[in-house]
Amino acid sequence: MNHHKTGKKFHARGSMAFGFHHLIKGTQKVVGAFARGVTGHNVPQTAEQQQHQNIEQQQPHTKEENAPQNAEQHVPQTAEQQQPQANEQHVPQDAEQQVPQTAEEHVEPEVLGGLREGFYQKTCPQAEEIIRNGLVRAMQNNSKIVAAIPRLFFHDCFVNGCDGSILLDTTPSGAEIEKSAGQNGITVKGYELIDEIKLELEKNCPGIVSCSDILAYLSRDAFVASGLPHYEVSGGRRDGMESLEANVADNIPVPDDSVDLMIELFNRKGLNAEDLVVLIGAHSIGVAHCFNFLYRMDDPEKAKMVDPRLGNVMRFTCTNQMSTLAFDAATQYKMDSVYYKQLLMNRGLLESDQVLAQDIRTRGLVQLFNNDEIGWFDKFGKAMNKLGAVEVLTGNQGQIRKQCRAVNA
Ligand code: HEM
Repeated sequence: MNHHKTGKKFHARGSMAFGFHHLIKGTQKVVGAFARGVTGHNVPQTAEQQQHQNIEQQQPHTKEENAPQNAEQHVPQTAEQQQPQANEQHVPQDAEQQVPQTAEEHVEPEVLGGLREGFYQKTCPQAEEIIRNGLVRAMQNNSKIVAAIPRLFFHDCFVNGCDGSILLDTTPSGAEIEKSAGQNGITVKGYELIDEIKLELEKNCPGIVSCSDILAYLSRDAFVASGLPHYEVSGGRRDGMESLEANVADNIPVPDDSVDLMIELFNRKGLNAEDLVVLIGAHSIGVAHCFNFLYRMDDPEKAKMVDPRLGNVMRFTCTNQMSTLAFDAATQYKMDSVYYKQLLMNRGLLESDQVLAQDIRTRGLVQLFNNDEIGWFDKFGKAMNKLGAVEVLTGNQGQIRKQCRAVNA
């Protein structure tokens, strides 16, 4: 086994978070089958149509079309694909003060954690297209898949790095796998889509595209389908050969985590407080189950942090703990800065989201991204590449799995 990972041993989490998820895990075992049924319904037609339009309009460029070594050569194909440049160093003060960068200042390094843009250009040039088409097909039956995929990717990357270990159904030692952990369980979905895409890739380019890279490209496509401008994704991850439930609890943030703890968890992965606030904007799409936020209304101190109208919606909608509510009900299927506005109005569903709008270290960023959606979009793609480079296996490390649920025999 070739597992060159570092920084995997961390202190135990606060007992509150642990106890809470212990409880959740018990609940999942009882109601898991029901929950899958619940989360598949209620698909607004218009949102679906909008998503399909977005993903078809924003076809990712291949390396050949759009050599990103030199920013001057980068000519966006359509108006939609043009991404305004944000100021890398901007201090969270006022969106109006931002000075757009020139193309020269915006050149991105080719290598991040040993990964490369256009990684499959020679070995499997159709890889990104196959992945994107898989998402488009899946969206026809289930528009919620779009939000499920980035969460799957995040939970993969924060546990043992972005190595596809969350996808494994068994681990060689026979121990409990990541999927069994409370933070994953029924609320992490999308495994079947990964299987379908992997099958298609194996038909076209056997043994070439890793499961971990599928997750990285597919997450980008999911965000683009939700309105985020296209961003290039670096590839070259290889798949891990171990998946352990024991690694999950200390690495995945939970809804009652403090800002301190979230920043610490992100720091351990090489991400900073700004990356945290940028990436938490992923909650602009998707839903949360009531067991992840309804407890706030039972505690008078915590309930004070909830906008009374949202509190009423929580109580009304949460007929049981397995009901779901959209993070951003107004634009549930759209990546936009409305989510940050909601936080500033105490309408964040999760306590862990809401505290980011309160804390002195992060509030300015929440305000900034609320005022500057384009700047946030730009930072989002970059932060996703940082997330996607966490503790990756490259070169001869790990393996390219033949199927994503099992290590190669
Ligand atoms: C930093 C702390 C974070 C915490 C505490 C957190 C927690 C959660 C929780 C509790 C849910 C609801 C799960 C459910 O009830 O079904 C959720 C959903 C989601 N999370 Fe996060 N998350 C965090 C960061 C992130 C990041 C960094 C991303 C992606 C880059 C992400 C993407 C998502 C998405 C897209 C959903 C919606 C899933 C769906 O609708 O199926 N989250 N998150």
